[in-house]
Amino acid sequence: MYRSHHCGELNAEHIGNIVTLSGWVQKIRNKGKMIWVDLRDRYGITQLIFEEGITPVDAFSMAKNTGREFVIQATGEVIEREAKNPNMATGDIEIKVSALKVLNEASLPPFTIEDQTDGGEEIRMKFRYLDLRRNPLKEKLVLRHKLAQEVRRYLDDQGFLEIETPYLIKSTPEGARDFIVPSRMNEGQFYALPQSPQTFKQLLMVSGYDRYFQIVKCFRDEDLRADRQPEFTQIDCEMAFVEQEDVLNNFEGMAKHLFHKIKNIVFDFEFPRMPYQEAMRLYGSDKPDIRFGMQFVELKAETDKKEFVVFNSAEYVGGICAEGCANYSRKELDELTKFVQRPQVGAKGLVYVKYNEDGSLKSSVDKFYNEADLKEWAEKMDAKPGDLLLILAGETNATRNALNVLRLEMGDRLGLRNPESFAPLWVVDFPLLEWDEDSRRFHAMHHPFTSPKKEDIHLLESEPGKVRANAYDMVINGVEIGGGSIRIHDSQLQKLMFKTLGFTDEQAQSQFGFLIDAFKYGAPPHGGIALGFDRLTAMFAGIDSIRDVIAFPKNNSGRDMMIDSPSAVDQTQLDELFLSSTVKK
Ligand code: AMO
Repeated sequence: MYRSHHCGELNAEHIGNIVTLSGWVQKIRNKGKMIWVDLRDRYGITQLIFEEGITPVDAFSMAKNTGREFVIQATGEVIEREAKNPNMATGDIEIKVSALKVLNEASLPPFTIEDQTDGGEEIRMKFRYLDLRRNPLKEKLVLRHKLAQEVRRYLDDQGFLEIETPYLIKSTPEGARDFIVPSRMNEGQFYALPQSPQTFKQLLMVSGYDRYFQIVKCFRDEDLRADRQPEFTQIDCEMAFVEQEDVLNNFEGMAKHLFHKIKNIVFDFEFPRMPYQEAMRLYGSDKPDIRFGMQFVELKAETDKKEFVVFNSAEYVGGICAEGCANYSRKELDELTKFVQRPQVGAKGLVYVKYNEDGSLKSSVDKFYNEADLKEWAEKMDAKPGDLLLILAGETNATRNALNVLRLEMGDRLGLRNPESFAPLWVVDFPLLEWDEDSRRFHAMHHPFTSPKKEDIHLLESEPGKVRANAYDMVINGVEIGGGSIRIHDSQLQKLMFKTLGFTDEQAQSQFGFLIDAFKYGAPPHGGIALGFDRLTAMFAGIDSIRDVIAFPKNNSGRDMMIDSPSAVDQTQLDELFLSSTVKK
């Protein structure tokens, strides 16, 4: 028996018991005649004590020679600690060791295994298995586990079946690049790893499994960011005989269940539903952070009353009101201007209006607008003395986009984006299609199986850009947590959709023939959603990066630093796969 208890469970009630613990040496304090060792395992830390003359000689000398991260086994009596530590679960006791065994020695770790480590990001990624010993990471994996269990509990209660789908498949239409896998048995042919199980879950609906879910890995070869990994996990779901409302209600229920069970937060209201157009108009984003207001106010009609070419020539003029910021200095305003002028934000300039505490108004466009003009803007923007108006102008979409970045920045500066407060909503009525300038054609905004709204179908051929979809996203705190849609289940409509997307019949048949064919055999009306499980976990953990909620993530270049992958393979392996590599090793 390696252990009778774990390192997080002993307390005053166990005093007098003889116990055996196993774990890693977190810390050693050697005071000559006395040695204390902090023994750590997944559950916590227990203090071991060795005393010269009392502890058996071999155990005492072994304790002297252990080092950090040695794996040891200690047996002894639980005794009351003299200097109690109320911050530790086991802080009332210590173990008076009578026998010690070194189960494995350890090299000196390349960084300290403490909550606050001295190791940089790169070294910790390389030695991820050591980083995972630290509490901050461990807590996130425990949280991830609990979320997964609660998801399963909820969906099982709702009658969902967990069904696995294959990883070696054909390209899926989620819009990113595929990872491809060469086939040894089929010369010159390749599998694609799924960007999602989209087509399979729809086939399961055709097969009659009317409530499906899966916590599943998805693979997308796209540029990485804090909230994107090349392999990530979805809570993927599909339901038959449902309308949009059924799906939203079911998954709103799941989100509420998770908040209740994991965070003890009860949402006793319906998540707001915001049409896409409104989200863009008020927040310039299809994933608005509604923890705070600062909605956009359009000022085109007001600003056009005077001659100021920047505003007059702009398609869109709009601003936000930053409460209590009228005291911003010249330097701070210059900084904000530079911030919005960065290429990734793309604004040409920033106009400000200070609504001073004394009621006077001062702006960067005083040459063109008088105080009465500024007052009119301030009133339209519901500003009060002390507030600062920040105004951008230009092409509508680009300017809204820049104003969104500025709004989030001001939200951060004003402390309005507390990670412990949660503001969920549904963004609904997404456009079915989006125009792509490069290929000069429409693309499916979600994927080609998303159904248009009935009342908009007549626009599909004449004004495709105006057609709205039965598509929805779950957004929490400005993060797209999940997205889904009601699917097309009618072959004729699906044909029309492929045509609108510029697919010939042959192309559609070669890429999605299996699904088109399946739909000929009685496809029920169906729809679904997939939630990003890594994003969901990161949000519950109050962090932005999903890397910290994944046990073995990739870095920003898509590399696993620990196992050193991707890497070259042997020529024989390439030959077997009928591949040649022109890259020199
Ligand atoms: P979608 O492409 O919107 O929908 O993906 C669903 C959710 O998955 C998460 N996500 C990611 N998380 C981490 N890294 C990534 N690279 C990444 N890409 C996406 C997001 C996103 O909201 N088949 C459809 C769902 C459906 O229609 O039912 C789909 O995959 O949180």
